[in-house]
Amino acid sequence: MALKIFNALFPYFGNKRKLGPVIFHYIAKFLPREMWQGAVFVDAFLGSGSMGLLAKAYGFRVTANDVALRSVIAGRALIENNHVRLGEVDLHRLFVPNPANLHIIEQEFVPDVFMKLHAQFLDNAFANAKRDIDKYLLVKHILSLRPYSKFSSPNAFNRPMAEGRFDEIKSTYTKHIKDNLKSPLEILKRQMPLVNAGVFSNGLQNKIYQGDVLDFIEQVDGDVLYLDPPYSGTLAYENEYAVLDRILGDAKVKSRFSADNGMDALDEIFARSERFPLWVISFGNAGGKNELNKLVEMVRKYRQCEAQEFAYRHCEAMASDKHKQQSREFLVLAWK
Ligand SMILES: C[S@@+](CC[C@H](N)C(=O)[O-])C[C@H]1O[C@@H](n2cnc3c(N)ncnc32)[C@H](O)[C@@H]1O
Repeated sequence: MALKIFNALFPYFGNKRKLGPVIFHYIAKFLPREMWQGAVFVDAFLGSGSMGLLAKAYGFRVTANDVALRSVIAGRALIENNHVRLGEVDLHRLFVPNPANLHIIEQEFVPDVFMKLHAQFLDNAFANAKRDIDKYLLVKHILSLRPYSKFSSPNAFNRPMAEGRFDEIKSTYTKHIKDNLKSPLEILKRQMPLVNAGVFSNGLQNKIYQGDVLDFIEQVDGDVLYLDPPYSGTLAYENEYAVLDRILGDAKVKSRFSADNGMDALDEIFARSERFPLWVISFGNAGGKNELNKLVEMVRKYRQCEAQEFAYRHCEAMASDKHKQQSREFLVLAWK
């Protein structure tokens, strides 16, 4: 299903764009669709916001959280925000010279991550971006220059690109070359309608938190608790998005959920989540390192559950062929 609202999301590894409608199909078995309007959907690991945004569209009141500001900006711009959209004038305001410009991107990330042209624009634009939706547009801008894969490949791409040595860049980077040759205004004009398509009201007040998952679940209540933690044994978000986090002034240490035994950290969440009637848990097998049976056993300590396993291709650009073939996505639904 191609949903326009999903174009508003930024590219994020581990996102649930494809699987989202399937997950809600399973939720309907336990919470019938006619009860969704105004029911509370708690998304404890928001990420790009794909599940939270879909829940909002389905009429849930969404309460969501992530430890990272990158995700919180997305959540505030698309899930908490019901009305504020971007107009042409907002784009032009980002170019007004601002003395509060910190020049972080130009000083730290040129030429190994960004071309000077983009760095200079982004540094100044962040000083001008006051609203969540402006910051979100800039995050989309950054990720449109380097979606999914690593922020930089200095020798293979960034330095030859900065020095105009295009014939030394492999053809796998062709799209990347085109994207980086666009002017900042062209990129903003392309992103603006995509972002605006994700702004809508469901008539409810949806709320975004930033913090550790354990602090968050202590503070909130809801009908569905959705848990989509980093999958243990896979790439850590704090490493993969370190450049973005630094730009946002939100550098983080590696999440305990990304450690090799990260699945065990879920037990603490289960132990504190008795009051949520339905738990919906996404997890991945990390190319064979994590087992569904183990997750099911952990959940069964607390309540009955049913489990699904899907063949799923995520991180297309990052995973090896072997990893893609062995990739499985788990879904566990547990009820009182
Ligand atoms: C698998 S992603 C969520 C993907 C999301 N469902 C989507 O569709 O885009 C996991 C998220 O957990 C966040 N995270 C990592 N450790 C956390 C913690 N201790 N508390 C809250 N969030 C955390 C990461 O920043 C990341 O955004």
